Amino acid sequence: MAMIMSVELGIPRLLLYVLLAYIGMVTMAAQVTPEDSISPVDRMVNKNDEVSFDCMIPGDPTSVVSWFHNNKGPISNRSGLTIFENGTLYIPEVKRKHEGEYRCYRDSLYAHTYAYINLYIELLPEFTILPVNVVAEEGDTAYLHCQADNSQSNPTIGWVRQDLIDVTNNLRYKVFNNGTLRISHVLLMDSGELTCIARHGPQHSVAKAYLIVEERLKFSFKPVPKPLKLGEIDTLVCKARGKTVPIVWWQKQGFPAGVWPDHINETDGTLTFSRVQKTDAGKYTCYAQNTQGLINETVDIQVVDYPTFTFEPIDTRVILGQPVMMHCQADGKPTPHISWVVEGKSLPPHFEVFQNGTLYTSEAQVTDEGQYTCIAGNSAGLNSREVTLSVLSGDDVILSASSASPSPLCGQLEDRIKELESLNSRLMDRVFLLENAECMCTGKQRGRTGRSRRHRGRRSVKLV
Ligand SMILES: *[C@@H]1O[C@H](CO)[C@@H](O)[C@H](O)[C@H]1NC(C)=O
Ligand SMILES: *[C@@H]1O[C@H](CO)[C@@H](O)[C@H](O)[C@H]1NC(C)=O
Ligand SMILES: *[C@@H]1O[C@H](CO)[C@@H](O)[C@H](O)[C@H]1NC(C)=O
Ligand SMILES: *[C@@H]1O[C@H](CO)[C@@H](O)[C@H](O)[C@H]1NC(C)=O
Ligand SMILES: *[C@@H]1O[C@H](CO)[C@@H](O)[C@H](O)[C@H]1NC(C)=O
Ligand SMILES: *[C@@H]1O[C@H](CO)[C@@H](O)[C@H](O)[C@H]1NC(C)=O
Repeated sequence: MAMIMSVELGIPRLLLYVLLAYIGMVTMAAQVTPEDSISPVDRMVNKNDEVSFDCMIPGDPTSVVSWFHNNKGPISNRSGLTIFENGTLYIPEVKRKHEGEYRCYRDSLYAHTYAYINLYIELLPEFTILPVNVVAEEGDTAYLHCQADNSQSNPTIGWVRQDLIDVTNNLRYKVFNNGTLRISHVLLMDSGELTCIARHGPQHSVAKAYLIVEERLKFSFKPVPKPLKLGEIDTLVCKARGKTVPIVWWQKQGFPAGVWPDHINETDGTLTFSRVQKTDAGKYTCYAQNTQGLINETVDIQVVDYPTFTFEPIDTRVILGQPVMMHCQADGKPTPHISWVVEGKSLPPHFEVFQNGTLYTSEAQVTDEGQYTCIAGNSAGLNSREVTLSVLSGDDVILSASSASPSPLCGQLEDRIKELESLNSRLMDRVFLLENAECMCTGKQRGRTGRSRRHRGRRSVKLV
């Protein structure tokens, strides 16, 4: 019969049960009594329960039955116990004082016959090591000890958590045979009440203790080695947490702590660069300190510079079948990588991009007309320029001129175009400079009706 009583921490509870250990039998004058002379032979009761024993020694029914407790007696009704007429002993509420040997005598003229039982009060498993509250730091290993002893048995020790998580199926929890509970790599969520249960048969005793897990001093926002953008506002952030609020600060390697140039402001673990300079590159260490100690984290900070074009591509016109070159160069830190796309797609295979960023094809095709984008990229970002490539075919009127010094040449060409326009009613596009220092303009011939008329072939105007 299991009997669980509500208990207080650390106090072993007594649960009584009555054990009829064995029936003894002694005869006087050679009289024998059978083993079940006292009934019940075996029975468990709880403290304060009632119990009764019938004396079954056979004999003259008119003979007298008397009971002795620990050789004292005979027991009378006055003791609080009751002896019924039929010889039954009745204990209304079992107390510790009722422990001991009970003898039942049946006296007759010829013999005294008695039988006896022992009434034991057995203790619940009693703790020999009580678990105590444990304070552990996050990540540590925590031990909670618990041992119980019992004069007649070895109780088994089990542990349960307040939230009823099964500690036996948790990889970080281990219960040793000696009753010790080990929790590895404790987490903040392991904090809470743990109950040690000592079991013996149907009986058990419990003892509780708390595991308190303290937060370890750690970076909650670990500094990252991010590049700072030259000339821009940027920040380096570092945050830490712990049992107590840590103070967080930065130090640049090779420089004294707490001293920063004017463009750097340090506030609560955040470095603010009002305008990033080249000299801001270097190793920065973030420190965090509280009562638990001092931690640090070092990051290598590069200063990067957004690509800026040193050679911007320009709108280009090329005569069908002629080579095309579109230049594109950019500066930055790290050195930007140049790539080209046409209409947002990758270049057709007859194009080539030189090491210096120049886009080249040996023979322009009609289908090469379109928007070309030069993209300069590095870790600081991307920069791009979009230009138009026009391929002039036979349908276009082309005026071109060559000269060693293009600028006055183009002016001359423009004058010439105006002249041509007045004569031939041609509408010209603008004048532009070709790679070979030629000036060129294009346009479609328009008749007097205002209708566009195709001009066959190409016209070059050479100016002297
Ligand atoms: C003791 O009390 C019981 C019940 O009240 C009664 O039956 C019995 O006769 C009493 N015994 C003696 C010896 O008076
Ligand atoms: C003896 O009498 C008591 C009280 O009347 C009763 O409870 C008990 O069962 C009796 N015992 C026997 C063996 O008859
Ligand atoms: C129980 O055994 C474990 C593992 O051997 C040990 O770490 C622990 O200290 C022991 N507990 C006690 C109370 O000795
Ligand atoms: C630094 O930054 C903090 C917070 O942004 C600001 O309150 C403080 O005035 C700044 N100090 C300097 C010297 O710029
Ligand atoms: C950072 O902490 C580690 C470990 O405590 C220590 O060895 C190292 O010297 C520290 N570094 C700096 C820059 O303080
Ligand atoms: C890039 O290289 C090509 C081939 O070497 C050359 O023709 C071109 O002029 C260069 N571009 C610039 C902008 O120098």
